[in-house]
Amino acid sequence: MPANLSMSALRVWRLLLVSSALALTGVQPVSATTEAGLAGPATPEELETAREDFMTYCSGCHGEDARGRGPVAIELKTKPADLTAIAQRNGGTFDREQVYKKIEGLDMPASHGTSEMPVWGAWFVHQAVGEGVLIEDARTAAKEATQRINNLVKYLESLQK
Ligand code: HEC
Repeated sequence: MPANLSMSALRVWRLLLVSSALALTGVQPVSATTEAGLAGPATPEELETAREDFMTYCSGCHGEDARGRGPVAIELKTKPADLTAIAQRNGGTFDREQVYKKIEGLDMPASHGTSEMPVWGAWFVHQAVGEGVLIEDARTAAKEATQRINNLVKYLESLQK
C-alpha cells in the first residue's frame, strides 16, 4: 500500500528529525534523570499516570501484576523480567537511575537489536512530538518522555517485594 508506505517513511523521518533536533539542542532524555523528576517520593498522580502507562504498554509482556507473565510472554524468546524483583536481584537496592536507563532503552540489548524489550524512550518522544516540527517541540517532547519514564520507575519501585 503506497499510503502505508509513505506513512511509515514519514514516521521514520520524523524520528530522525527528533533525534537530530535533540542532539543539536543538547537535550538528552537520559541526562535528565538527575533532574528533580526522578528524585524524591512519588506523588499519587505520578503513580496513577504510570499505572495507566504500565497497563497500556508493559502489561502485555510483563503482566498486569508485573511478574513477567503477560499474554505475550509465551511468544517471546527472552522471558520478560519479574519487575517486582528488581531490587531483590540487585542485592536489595532499587537503583532508580539504572531502571530508568533500562526502560529508556539505552541500557538494553535492544539498542543492539537482540532484545525483545522495546526501546520506550524513543517511542515516548515520538508520541509526544506529535505533529510538531520545531526544535522547541522536540525539547518539550523529550521532557514529557523523561517524565513518563520517571513515573514508571517510581511505580515499579512501589511494587518491589
Ligand atoms: C514485547 C514485550 C515487552 C514489553 C511490551 C515490555 N517489556 Fe520490559 N522486558 C521485556 C523482556 C523480554 C525483558 C528481559 C530483558 C531483556 O530484554 O534482555 C524486559 C526487561 C525489562 C526491565 C529490566 C528488568 C531488570 O531487572 O533487568 C525493565 C525495567 C522493564 N522491562 C520495564 C518495562 C516497562 C516499564 C515497559 C512498558 C513501558 C516494558 N518493560 C514493556 C519485554 C517487554
